[in-house]
Amino acid sequence: MKNIVVTGGAGFIGSHVVRLFVNNYPDYNIINLDLLTYAGNLENLKDIEGKPNYTFVKADICDYDTVACIFSKYKIDAVIHLAAESHVDRSIKDPFSFARTNVMGTLTLLQVAKNYWGDNFENKLFYHVSTDEVYGSLGDEGFFLETTAYDPHSPYSASKASSDHFVRAFYDTYGLPVVISNCSNNYGSYQFPEKLIPLFINNICNNKPLPVYGKGDNVRDWLFVNDHARAINVIFHEGKLGDTYNIGGFNEWKNIDLIRVLIKTVDKLLGREEGTSEKLITYVADRAGHDYRYAIDSSKLKNELGWEPSLQFEEGIEKTVKWYLENEDWVQHVTSGAYQKYYQQMYEE
Ligand code: NAD
Ligand code: DAU
Repeated sequence: MKNIVVTGGAGFIGSHVVRLFVNNYPDYNIINLDLLTYAGNLENLKDIEGKPNYTFVKADICDYDTVACIFSKYKIDAVIHLAAESHVDRSIKDPFSFARTNVMGTLTLLQVAKNYWGDNFENKLFYHVSTDEVYGSLGDEGFFLETTAYDPHSPYSASKASSDHFVRAFYDTYGLPVVISNCSNNYGSYQFPEKLIPLFINNICNNKPLPVYGKGDNVRDWLFVNDHARAINVIFHEGKLGDTYNIGGFNEWKNIDLIRVLIKTVDKLLGREEGTSEKLITYVADRAGHDYRYAIDSSKLKNELGWEPSLQFEEGIEKTVKWYLENEDWVQHVTSGAYQKYYQQMYEE
Protein backbone atom coordinates (compact mmCIF):
# COMPACT_ATOMS: atom_id res chain seq x y z
CA MET A 1 0.00 0.00 0.00
CA LYS A 2 1.55 3.27 -1.08
CA ASN A 3 -1.03 6.05 -1.24
CA ILE A 4 -2.80 6.62 2.04
CA VAL A 5 -5.43 9.22 2.76
CA VAL A 6 -5.62 10.26 6.42
CA THR A 7 -8.85 12.14 7.13
CA GLY A 8 -8.84 14.68 9.96
CA GLY A 9 -5.04 14.83 9.77
CA ALA A 10 -4.97 18.47 10.90
CA GLY A 11 -6.70 17.65 14.19
CA PHE A 12 -5.24 16.51 17.48
CA ILE A 13 -4.77 12.75 17.00
CA GLY A 14 -4.72 12.97 13.19
CA SER A 15 -1.68 15.26 13.23
CA HIS A 16 0.26 12.75 15.35
CA VAL A 17 -0.75 9.92 13.00
CA VAL A 18 0.25 11.92 9.91
CA ARG A 19 3.61 12.84 11.47
CA LEU A 20 4.36 9.22 12.42
CA PHE A 21 3.52 7.88 8.94
CA VAL A 22 5.29 10.67 7.02
CA ASN A 23 8.47 10.27 9.09
CA ASN A 24 8.52 6.47 9.34
CA TYR A 25 7.47 5.56 5.81
CA PRO A 26 9.22 7.66 3.14
CA ASP A 27 7.81 5.24 0.51
CA TYR A 28 4.21 6.02 1.37
CA ASN A 29 2.45 9.10 0.06
CA ILE A 30 0.39 10.54 2.87
CA ILE A 31 -2.55 12.67 1.78
CA ASN A 32 -4.04 14.64 4.63
CA LEU A 33 -7.71 15.33 3.82
CA ASP A 34 -9.16 17.83 6.27
CA LEU A 35 -11.87 20.50 6.17
CA LEU A 36 -10.01 22.68 8.71
CA THR A 37 -12.98 23.19 11.00
CA TYR A 38 -12.36 25.03 14.30
CA ALA A 39 -10.52 21.85 15.42
CA GLY A 40 -8.23 21.51 12.42
CA ASN A 41 -5.01 23.48 12.38
CA LEU A 42 -2.15 23.25 9.89
CA GLU A 43 0.18 24.69 12.53
CA ASN A 44 0.01 21.19 14.06
CA LEU A 45 2.05 19.90 11.12
CA LYS A 46 4.56 22.70 10.48
CA ASP A 47 7.52 20.38 11.05
CA ILE A 48 6.57 18.01 8.22
CA GLU A 49 4.72 20.22 5.74
CA GLY A 50 7.70 20.40 3.34
CA LYS A 51 8.32 16.64 3.19
CA PRO A 52 8.07 15.12 -0.32
CA ASN A 53 5.72 12.31 0.79
CA TYR A 54 3.16 14.68 2.37
CA THR A 55 0.24 16.48 0.69
CA PHE A 56 -2.54 18.49 2.28
CA VAL A 57 -5.97 18.73 0.63
CA LYS A 58 -8.74 20.85 2.09
CA ALA A 59 -12.01 18.96 1.59
CA ASP A 60 -15.20 17.87 3.29
CA ILE A 61 -15.62 14.12 3.84
CA CYS A 62 -19.37 14.59 3.22
CA ASP A 63 -18.75 15.85 -0.35
CA TYR A 64 -18.88 12.63 -2.43
CA ASP A 65 -17.69 14.13 -5.74
CA THR A 66 -14.69 15.91 -4.27
CA VAL A 67 -13.64 12.88 -2.22
CA ALA A 68 -14.02 10.65 -5.30
CA CYS A 69 -11.76 13.02 -7.29
CA ILE A 70 -9.15 12.89 -4.52
CA PHE A 71 -9.21 9.06 -4.59
CA SER A 72 -8.63 9.00 -8.34
CA LYS A 73 -6.09 11.81 -8.43
CA TYR A 74 -3.91 10.24 -5.72
CA LYS A 75 -4.72 6.57 -6.56
CA ILE A 76 -5.68 5.89 -2.96
CA ASP A 77 -4.91 2.40 -1.61
CA ALA A 78 -5.83 2.91 2.02
CA VAL A 79 -7.82 5.18 4.30
CA ILE A 80 -7.11 6.03 7.93
CA HIS A 81 -10.30 7.78 8.93
CA LEU A 82 -10.13 10.16 11.88
CA ALA A 83 -12.14 13.19 10.69
CA ALA A 84 -15.02 13.79 13.05
CA GLU A 85 -16.78 16.19 15.31
CA SER A 86 -15.18 15.01 18.55
CA HIS A 87 -16.35 17.05 21.55
CA VAL A 88 -19.21 15.66 23.68
CA ASP A 89 -20.31 19.08 25.00
CA ARG A 90 -20.66 20.45 21.48
CA SER A 91 -22.71 17.39 20.50
CA ILE A 92 -25.20 18.19 23.27
CA LYS A 93 -25.70 21.69 21.84
CA ASP A 94 -25.66 20.74 18.14
CA PRO A 95 -26.33 17.02 17.47
CA PHE A 96 -27.05 17.54 13.75
CA SER A 97 -23.49 18.46 12.84
CA PHE A 98 -22.34 15.24 14.56
CA ALA A 99 -24.75 13.13 12.51
CA ARG A 100 -23.64 14.93 9.36
CA THR A 101 -19.87 14.57 9.79
CA ASN A 102 -19.57 11.38 11.79
CA VAL A 103 -22.34 9.32 10.18
CA MET A 104 -22.86 10.74 6.68
CA GLY A 105 -19.17 11.63 6.31
CA THR A 106 -18.09 8.07 7.18
CA LEU A 107 -20.74 6.60 4.87
CA THR A 108 -19.59 8.88 2.05
CA LEU A 109 -15.98 7.75 2.47
CA LEU A 110 -16.99 4.08 2.57
CA GLN A 111 -19.03 4.47 -0.59
CA VAL A 112 -16.23 6.32 -2.41
CA ALA A 113 -13.69 3.67 -1.36
CA LYS A 114 -15.95 0.81 -2.46
CA ASN A 115 -16.72 2.41 -5.82
CA TYR A 116 -13.13 3.48 -6.50
CA TRP A 117 -11.64 0.08 -5.60
CA GLY A 118 -14.33 -1.73 -7.62
CA ASP A 119 -14.14 -5.49 -7.26
CA ASN A 120 -10.46 -5.63 -6.43
CA PHE A 121 -9.87 -5.16 -2.73
CA GLU A 122 -6.41 -6.72 -2.75
CA ASN A 123 -3.95 -4.67 -0.68
CA LYS A 124 -6.65 -2.14 0.13
CA LEU A 125 -7.71 -1.06 3.62
CA PHE A 126 -10.31 1.16 5.24
CA TYR A 127 -9.18 1.83 8.84
CA HIS A 128 -11.85 3.49 10.98
CA VAL A 129 -10.69 5.24 14.17
CA SER A 130 -13.36 5.14 16.85
CA THR A 131 -13.89 5.64 20.55
CA ASP A 132 -14.56 3.67 23.73
CA GLU A 133 -17.62 5.89 24.33
CA VAL A 134 -19.68 3.65 22.00
CA TYR A 135 -19.73 1.04 24.79
CA GLY A 136 -21.57 3.36 27.18
CA SER A 137 -20.81 3.79 30.85
CA LEU A 138 -19.34 1.37 33.42
CA GLY A 139 -20.02 1.13 37.15
CA ASP A 140 -17.10 0.83 39.58
CA GLU A 141 -16.10 -2.59 38.24
CA GLY A 142 -15.29 -4.14 34.88
CA PHE A 143 -13.77 -3.16 31.54
CA PHE A 144 -14.91 -2.62 27.96
CA LEU A 145 -13.99 -5.57 25.74
CA GLU A 146 -14.22 -5.74 21.95
CA THR A 147 -17.33 -7.87 22.49
CA THR A 148 -19.10 -5.42 24.84
CA ALA A 149 -22.52 -4.46 23.45
CA TYR A 150 -22.85 -0.90 22.18
CA ASP A 151 -24.76 1.46 24.48
CA PRO A 152 -23.96 5.06 23.53
CA HIS A 153 -25.49 7.91 25.53
CA SER A 154 -24.37 11.23 24.05
CA PRO A 155 -25.13 12.47 20.53
CA TYR A 156 -21.36 12.24 19.94
CA SER A 157 -21.09 8.59 20.98
CA ALA A 158 -24.34 7.72 19.18
CA SER A 159 -22.91 9.17 15.97
CA LYS A 160 -19.62 7.28 16.40
CA ALA A 161 -21.51 4.04 17.16
CA SER A 162 -23.53 4.54 14.00
CA SER A 163 -20.38 5.10 11.96
CA ASP A 164 -18.84 1.89 13.39
CA HIS A 165 -21.97 -0.04 12.36
CA PHE A 166 -21.73 1.30 8.80
CA VAL A 167 -18.08 0.27 8.59
CA ARG A 168 -18.94 -3.30 9.72
CA ALA A 169 -21.93 -3.36 7.36
CA PHE A 170 -19.60 -2.61 4.43
CA TYR A 171 -17.35 -5.50 5.50
CA ASP A 172 -20.26 -7.94 5.87
CA THR A 173 -22.20 -6.81 2.80
CA TYR A 174 -19.55 -5.91 0.22
CA GLY A 175 -16.40 -7.47 1.66
CA LEU A 176 -14.74 -4.06 1.94
CA PRO A 177 -11.47 -4.68 3.84
CA VAL A 178 -11.94 -2.79 7.09
CA VAL A 179 -10.48 -2.63 10.55
CA ILE A 180 -11.75 -0.61 13.54
CA SER A 181 -10.12 0.54 16.74
CA ASN A 182 -11.88 1.97 19.80
CA CYS A 183 -9.64 4.07 22.00
CA SER A 184 -9.92 5.68 25.42
CA ASN A 185 -9.28 9.37 26.27
CA ASN A 186 -6.14 10.80 24.68
CA TYR A 187 -3.93 13.58 26.00
CA GLY A 188 -0.79 15.30 24.71
CA SER A 189 0.40 18.10 22.48
CA TYR A 190 -1.82 19.88 19.93
CA GLN A 191 -5.13 19.05 21.68
CA PHE A 192 -7.70 21.80 21.28
CA PRO A 193 -8.33 23.50 24.64
CA GLU A 194 -12.00 22.56 24.87
CA LYS A 195 -11.11 19.09 26.21
CA LEU A 196 -10.42 18.69 29.93
CA ILE A 197 -6.61 18.54 30.05
CA PRO A 198 -5.59 21.41 27.72
CA LEU A 199 -8.52 23.56 28.90
CA PHE A 200 -7.51 23.19 32.52
CA ILE A 201 -3.78 23.72 31.85
CA ASN A 202 -4.65 26.96 30.07
CA ASN A 203 -7.00 28.10 32.83
CA ILE A 204 -4.49 27.32 35.60
CA CYS A 205 -1.85 29.36 33.73
CA ASN A 206 -4.27 32.27 33.42
CA ASN A 207 -5.72 32.00 36.96
CA LYS A 208 -9.20 31.27 35.58
CA PRO A 209 -11.80 29.06 37.32
CA LEU A 210 -11.58 25.31 36.64
CA PRO A 211 -15.15 24.17 35.84
CA VAL A 212 -15.44 20.66 37.33
CA TYR A 213 -18.66 18.95 36.18
CA GLY A 214 -20.77 17.46 38.99
CA LYS A 215 -18.68 16.12 41.88
CA GLY A 216 -15.61 15.44 39.78
CA ASP A 217 -15.89 11.72 40.49
CA ASN A 218 -16.30 10.51 36.90
CA VAL A 219 -13.52 8.22 35.76
CA ARG A 220 -11.61 8.26 32.46
CA ASP A 221 -8.82 6.00 31.17
CA TRP A 222 -6.03 8.25 29.81
CA LEU A 223 -3.60 7.41 27.02
CA PHE A 224 -0.71 9.51 25.68
CA VAL A 225 -1.59 10.48 22.10
CA ASN A 226 1.73 9.24 20.67
CA ASP A 227 0.89 5.79 22.05
CA HIS A 228 -2.46 5.91 20.24
CA ALA A 229 -0.63 6.81 17.00
CA ARG A 230 1.76 3.86 17.59
CA ALA A 231 -1.22 1.55 18.09
CA ILE A 232 -2.83 2.80 14.86
CA ASN A 233 0.45 2.10 13.05
CA VAL A 234 0.54 -1.49 14.35
CA ILE A 235 -3.14 -2.17 13.62
CA PHE A 236 -2.88 -0.59 10.15
CA HIS A 237 -0.05 -2.95 9.22
CA GLU A 238 -0.92 -6.10 11.16
CA GLY A 239 -4.59 -5.91 12.17
CA LYS A 240 -6.90 -8.70 11.01
CA LEU A 241 -9.47 -7.60 8.44
CA GLY A 242 -12.97 -7.23 9.86
CA ASP A 243 -11.63 -7.12 13.43
CA THR A 244 -11.94 -4.55 16.19
CA TYR A 245 -9.12 -3.61 18.58
CA ASN A 246 -9.58 -1.77 21.86
CA ILE A 247 -6.80 0.69 22.72
CA GLY A 248 -6.27 1.96 26.26
CA GLY A 249 -3.65 2.55 28.89
CA PHE A 250 -5.05 0.69 31.93
CA ASN A 251 -4.73 4.16 33.45
CA GLU A 252 -7.92 5.22 35.21
CA TRP A 253 -8.27 8.55 36.98
CA LYS A 254 -11.14 10.22 38.78
CA ASN A 255 -11.48 13.68 37.21
CA ILE A 256 -10.82 15.51 40.47
CA ASP A 257 -7.64 13.52 41.19
CA LEU A 258 -6.38 14.18 37.68
CA ILE A 259 -7.17 17.89 38.07
CA ARG A 260 -5.08 17.98 41.26
CA VAL A 261 -2.14 16.40 39.38
CA LEU A 262 -2.52 19.09 36.69
CA ILE A 263 -2.58 21.86 39.30
CA LYS A 264 0.51 20.47 41.01
CA THR A 265 2.41 20.09 37.74
CA VAL A 266 1.54 23.52 36.33
CA ASP A 267 2.24 25.30 39.63
CA LYS A 268 5.61 23.51 39.92
CA LEU A 269 6.67 24.34 36.37
CA LEU A 270 5.59 27.98 36.76
CA GLY A 271 7.55 28.26 40.00
CA ARG A 272 4.41 28.86 42.07
CA GLU A 273 4.08 27.64 45.63
CA GLU A 274 2.54 24.14 45.84
CA GLY A 275 -1.26 24.27 46.00
CA THR A 276 -1.53 27.89 44.80
CA SER A 277 -4.10 27.07 42.12
CA GLU A 278 -6.30 24.72 44.20
CA LYS A 279 -8.56 27.71 44.84
CA LEU A 280 -9.48 27.76 41.13
CA ILE A 281 -11.43 24.48 41.44
CA THR A 282 -15.09 25.39 40.82
CA TYR A 283 -17.81 22.76 40.88
CA VAL A 284 -20.41 23.48 38.18
CA ALA A 285 -23.59 21.78 36.89
CA ASP A 286 -22.97 18.25 35.61
CA ARG A 287 -22.79 17.44 31.89
CA ALA A 288 -26.17 16.09 30.69
CA GLY A 289 -26.06 12.28 30.42
CA HIS A 290 -22.51 12.28 31.81
CA ASP A 291 -21.04 8.78 31.50
CA TYR A 292 -19.68 7.70 34.88
CA ARG A 293 -16.70 5.52 34.00
CA TYR A 294 -14.74 4.35 30.96
CA ALA A 295 -12.09 1.63 31.22
CA ILE A 296 -10.63 -0.23 28.27
CA ASP A 297 -9.27 -3.75 28.28
CA SER A 298 -6.63 -3.64 25.56
CA SER A 299 -5.29 -7.19 26.15
CA LYS A 300 -6.26 -8.33 22.65
CA LEU A 301 -4.01 -5.68 21.10
CA LYS A 302 -1.18 -6.63 23.45
CA ASN A 303 -1.55 -10.40 23.02
CA GLU A 304 -2.14 -10.45 19.26
CA LEU A 305 -0.10 -7.50 17.99
CA GLY A 306 2.33 -6.82 20.85
CA TRP A 307 1.34 -3.19 21.47
CA GLU A 308 1.69 -1.64 24.93
CA PRO A 309 1.66 1.98 26.11
CA SER A 310 5.20 3.37 26.31
CA LEU A 311 4.81 6.06 28.96
CA GLN A 312 3.88 6.27 32.62
CA PHE A 313 1.10 8.79 33.20
CA GLU A 314 3.09 11.16 35.46
CA GLU A 315 5.80 11.41 32.80
CA GLY A 316 3.22 11.96 30.04
CA ILE A 317 1.43 14.68 31.99
CA GLU A 318 4.67 16.51 32.76
CA LYS A 319 5.68 16.36 29.07
CA THR A 320 2.23 17.61 28.08
CA VAL A 321 2.15 20.52 30.53
CA LYS A 322 5.68 21.52 29.43
CA TRP A 323 4.58 21.46 25.79
CA TYR A 324 1.65 23.82 26.44
CA LEU A 325 3.86 26.17 28.48
CA GLU A 326 6.53 26.20 25.76
CA ASN A 327 4.03 26.69 22.93
CA GLU A 328 2.21 29.79 24.07
CA ASP A 329 1.90 31.05 20.48
CA TRP A 330 0.03 27.92 19.43
CA VAL A 331 -2.32 28.25 22.42
CA GLN A 332 -2.86 31.94 21.69
CA HIS A 333 -3.66 31.33 18.04
CA VAL A 334 -6.24 28.62 18.76
CA THR A 335 -7.86 30.46 21.68
CA SER A 336 -8.41 33.75 19.90
CA GLY A 337 -11.48 34.57 17.79
CA ALA A 338 -14.21 31.93 17.71
CA TYR A 339 -12.84 30.19 20.82
CA GLN A 340 -13.78 33.17 23.02
CA LYS A 341 -17.39 32.97 21.86
CA TYR A 342 -17.51 29.21 22.48
CA TYR A 343 -16.06 29.64 25.97
CA GLN A 344 -18.60 32.30 26.86
CA GLN A 345 -21.54 30.19 25.64
CA MET A 346 -20.32 27.05 27.38
CA TYR A 347 -19.12 28.39 30.72
CA GLU A 348 -20.23 31.99 31.27
CA GLU A 349 -23.88 32.25 30.11
P1 NAD B 1 -10.26 16.74 16.62
O1 NAD B 1 -11.58 17.37 16.87
O2 NAD B 1 -9.05 17.30 17.28
O3 NAD B 1 -9.96 16.73 15.05
C1 NAD B 1 -10.93 16.42 14.10
C2 NAD B 1 -10.38 16.80 12.73
O4 NAD B 1 -11.37 16.45 11.75
C3 NAD B 1 -10.11 18.29 12.57
O5 NAD B 1 -8.86 18.49 11.94
C4 NAD B 1 -11.24 18.77 11.67
O6 NAD B 1 -10.91 19.89 10.86
C5 NAD B 1 -11.51 17.53 10.84
N1 NAD B 1 -12.88 17.49 10.29
C6 NAD B 1 -14.04 17.72 10.97
N2 NAD B 1 -15.08 17.63 10.12
C7 NAD B 1 -14.56 17.33 8.90
C8 NAD B 1 -15.14 17.11 7.61
N3 NAD B 1 -16.47 17.19 7.43
N4 NAD B 1 -14.33 16.80 6.57
C9 NAD B 1 -12.98 16.74 6.75
N5 NAD B 1 -12.39 16.96 7.93
C10 NAD B 1 -13.17 17.25 9.00
O7 NAD B 1 -10.46 15.21 16.97
P2 NAD B 1 -9.47 14.19 17.71
O8 NAD B 1 -9.62 14.33 19.17
O9 NAD B 1 -8.14 14.27 17.08
O10 NAD B 1 -10.16 12.80 17.30
C11 NAD B 1 -9.85 12.19 16.05
C12 NAD B 1 -10.66 10.90 15.92
O11 NAD B 1 -10.33 10.02 16.98
C13 NAD B 1 -12.16 11.12 15.98
O12 NAD B 1 -12.76 10.25 15.06
C14 NAD B 1 -12.53 10.74 17.40
O13 NAD B 1 -13.85 10.25 17.46
C15 NAD B 1 -11.52 9.65 17.69
N6 NAD B 1 -11.13 9.51 19.10
C16 NAD B 1 -10.73 10.58 19.84
C17 NAD B 1 -10.30 10.41 21.16
C18 NAD B 1 -9.82 11.55 22.01
O14 NAD B 1 -9.56 11.36 23.20
N7 NAD B 1 -9.65 12.74 21.47
C19 NAD B 1 -10.30 9.11 21.72
C20 NAD B 1 -10.75 8.03 20.93
C21 NAD B 1 -11.13 8.24 19.63
O1 DAU C 1 -13.15 8.29 25.68
C1 DAU C 1 -12.75 8.80 24.44
C2 DAU C 1 -13.35 10.16 24.24
O2 DAU C 1 -12.67 11.05 25.14
C3 DAU C 1 -13.22 10.68 22.80
O3 DAU C 1 -13.97 9.85 21.96
C4 DAU C 1 -13.73 12.11 22.69
O4 DAU C 1 -13.50 12.60 21.38
C5 DAU C 1 -12.96 12.96 23.68
O5 DAU C 1 -13.45 14.29 23.65
C6 DAU C 1 -13.05 12.39 25.10
O6 DAU C 1 -14.40 12.54 25.65
P1 DAU C 1 -14.67 13.00 27.17
O7 DAU C 1 -16.01 13.59 27.22
O8 DAU C 1 -14.33 11.92 28.11
O9 DAU C 1 -13.50 14.13 27.29
P2 DAU C 1 -13.50 15.60 27.91
O10 DAU C 1 -12.08 16.06 27.89
O11 DAU C 1 -14.52 16.48 27.30
O12 DAU C 1 -13.92 15.34 29.42
C7 DAU C 1 -13.18 14.48 30.28
C8 DAU C 1 -13.90 14.42 31.61
O13 DAU C 1 -13.80 15.72 32.24
C9 DAU C 1 -15.39 14.13 31.50
O14 DAU C 1 -15.79 13.33 32.60
C10 DAU C 1 -16.04 15.51 31.61
C11 DAU C 1 -15.09 16.29 32.52
N1 DAU C 1 -15.00 17.75 32.24
C12 DAU C 1 -14.74 18.15 30.97
C13 DAU C 1 -14.68 19.49 30.66
C14 DAU C 1 -14.41 19.95 29.25
C15 DAU C 1 -15.16 18.65 33.27
O15 DAU C 1 -15.37 18.29 34.45
N2 DAU C 1 -15.10 20.00 32.97
C16 DAU C 1 -14.87 20.45 31.70
O16 DAU C 1 -14.84 21.69 31.50
